[in-house]
Amino acid sequence: PKSPNNQLIKLHQDATKLYSHILLNTEIGQPALDYLHQRGLTDQTIKDYGLGYAPNQEILKPFFEERQVDYQTLRHSGLFIENQAGDLRDRFSDRIMYPIRNQSGQEIAFSGRLLKKADDQPKYLNSPETELFNKRRVLFNYDLARTAVRKAGQLILFEGFMDVMSAHQAGVDNGVASMGTSLTDEQIYAISRITKQVYVCYDGDVPGQKATQRALTILREHTQLSLGVIQMPEGLDPDEYRQQYGEAKLASALSTAKETPVAFEMRYLKTQHDVKTDTGRLQYLDDVLKLLATVRSPVEQDVYLTQLADSFQLDKASLRQQLSMIRPVQS
Ligand code: GTP
Ligand code: MN
Ligand code: MN
Ligand code: MN
Ligand code: MN
Repeated sequence: PKSPNNQLIKLHQDATKLYSHILLNTEIGQPALDYLHQRGLTDQTIKDYGLGYAPNQEILKPFFEERQVDYQTLRHSGLFIENQAGDLRDRFSDRIMYPIRNQSGQEIAFSGRLLKKADDQPKYLNSPETELFNKRRVLFNYDLARTAVRKAGQLILFEGFMDVMSAHQAGVDNGVASMGTSLTDEQIYAISRITKQVYVCYDGDVPGQKATQRALTILREHTQLSLGVIQMPEGLDPDEYRQQYGEAKLASALSTAKETPVAFEMRYLKTQHDVKTDTGRLQYLDDVLKLLATVRSPVEQDVYLTQLADSFQLDKASLRQQLSMIRPVQS
């Protein structure tokens, strides 16, 4: 059938094939292929995700014009940039192309990554919003992850596409990533349809930790979900971790480096205060006790109170007394 959406999907499928062909079989694609190989991606992963390369020249436009795709369809595809006069030119140039698929596995958009850092251009360029592509609804890899998520009984939320692909290469297929923005209700709804157990595995760097904190806050509003955090060591992201230590180590970190949201937040809060000073330490303790006041399980509370007492050489009874003075948050 030739509904407008089907036409747009067909364009994206054709574009995916063309970009992939350029990456894998042409000389102009060779530097991009070398780049991906240098990052340790296998040809199998490159194929599994349909990665491609948009060269530094017009390629989609002549391809589609030759096939007599009409101007309005091209305009609405998001694959082109339109100038004042209404002329179209390829939106993506000199970028590694990651196809973005909908929940049925159809290509609906692209994200393109620069090979080299450039000051005047964003590292990643996404397709604009179109009739097919609504950034708020899409989770990268949701279509492929679904089966693995059901089987594992849990889903891992990564920050980036590369992290999802790295996990895949390590045999971990229950990973998805949002489109580089904070989580939306639509995305969380899609997640909650296939699992109740979500692990946040964002980058180990400072922005990643901040984003973890934000993601937990958003996810907590969906009380039917059980949450956890997977902590990447040494400030690395999962892809960097794989590059440094290999697939097996990444797979084992993803299954063992798990912590509760409270444990994560205690660690995170610690980085926000100078606990070497009395004031900093007191503020930190105050923040942690407020956090612990929201924990419903007395046993869980006790575990963290013990940790706190031990690490600051404090009397657990006084911590508990202070905790009891904090009015429990109603929910
Ligand atoms: P690599 O450098 O290729 O490993 O990417 P990364 O995933 O490690 O990137 P980073 O941790 O910096 O960002 C995480 C995610 O945010 C990316 O996967 C993108 O989805 C998104 N992102 C990063 N930079 C940009 C940007 O310049 N523009 C947009 N739109 N999104 C970005
Ligand atoms: Mn990051
Ligand atoms: Mn990253
Ligand atoms: Mn990375
Ligand atoms: Mn504070």
